Amino acid sequence: MAEDNLAADAITEGLETRFIGQRVLYYSSLTSTMVVAKREAQAGAVEGTVIIADEQTGGRGRLKRAWLTPRGNLALSLILYPSLSYLSSLMMLASLAVVHTIETVTGLKPQIKWPNDVLVNGRKVSGILIENDVQGSTVNYTIIGIGMNVNLKLADVPDIQTIATSLTTELGRDVSRLTVIRRLLVEMEKLYLALLAGGSIYEEWRDRLVTLGQKVRATDGETTNEGIAESVARDGSLLLRGSDGSLTRIVAGDVTLRG
Ligand code: BTN
Repeated sequence: MAEDNLAADAITEGLETRFIGQRVLYYSSLTSTMVVAKREAQAGAVEGTVIIADEQTGGRGRLKRAWLTPRGNLALSLILYPSLSYLSSLMMLASLAVVHTIETVTGLKPQIKWPNDVLVNGRKVSGILIENDVQGSTVNYTIIGIGMNVNLKLADVPDIQTIATSLTTELGRDVSRLTVIRRLLVEMEKLYLALLAGGSIYEEWRDRLVTLGQKVRATDGETTNEGIAESVARDGSLLLRGSDGSLTRIVAGDVTLRG
């Protein structure tokens, strides 16, 4: 496996961003970058601070699932202080930044499964977890956590072999994690600055969704809905057309493609 140097200096040196990734805290191993990022944000870390780890021993996924980060993968959390109106766009931003990065660095053609899983050839290559601390209309902080299977050998993780993939699996060669991270930071800042300047990223996110037009099952806790994924709203919610013609708005949870 190509072991590239993820030390903070290697990431920040000459990085073409104004603030995202200009401060990087690198850990060889930690429980979860989300935990360290939360502590940093509560202590007032500068916006754009990135926590990155070679290995997570207690990586967290959406819906209280565990997230595996053996060495060779990528795990990072980014601290932002956006205003409330931007929150629903951040999951679009993060998934699009991952898609742009994979396309640019590898030439692969990723797709997004609602709300923000990134797939290559139908299998998950990256997951995104966003945690916000909001009081009334004030956002104290937002943490965007991104996990990407870069040089993961699927034979080492039999539990996820049928649903996951990695860049190395798709390409048949290892990929420089340093190149991936530096590109990802640039892509996230581009999209974030575009949002702050009043631009919209909703249309591109919508058009990249593999989910639309498909028969899906949406599960949120005890609630399950089945239907055709008809469209997504600007706030990121999914509109599901049931067989009885009803339209259900799905705001959270998990979607399984049934087609
Ligand atoms: C998911 O698809 O369920 C989301 C996975 C998010 C994983 C990333 S890895 C970096 C950050 N630290 C964590 O513990 N989780 C996120």
